[in-house]
Amino acid sequence: MIAIGCDHGGYGLKQEIIKHLQEKGLEFKDYGCYSEESCDYPIYAKAVAEAVADGTCEQGILICGTGIGVSITANKVPGIRAALCHDCFSAQATREHNDANVLAMGARVIGPGLALKIVDIFLETPFSNDERHIRRIGMIES
Ligand code: RB5
Repeated sequence: MIAIGCDHGGYGLKQEIIKHLQEKGLEFKDYGCYSEESCDYPIYAKAVAEAVADGTCEQGILICGTGIGVSITANKVPGIRAALCHDCFSAQATREHNDANVLAMGARVIGPGLALKIVDIFLETPFSNDERHIRRIGMIES
């Protein structure tokens, strides 16, 4: 199960990603927001991060204008490793090296074509399970 959320700046891209997930037959929970009316991104970033942290969802996707506000917020939740990715290399590397469990993107930074490619890479790339990466991830929260 994938948790997805956004603020008003990310609403349009979130709808495109939802359509993409549906076309791929992937299950998701939409934690809002539900329109382009101005709203506060921490509400939605916390909801998605908490859903991933408590095991309701395995991975999360967050979108705001820049991706920065939602990634900062999500990373305050224990157990969350949110990665702000605007390129394919970073999306692959953060799964392999950081075992990132939330993808953050900025809808005012990249277009939908690249964003959907990044989503695919993020969801499909497994963690490397390398000892050094396991050790480093453990050091983040200790
Ligand atoms: C909203 O205007 C904007 O500040 C928000 O979408 C995001 O970019 C914050 O980091």
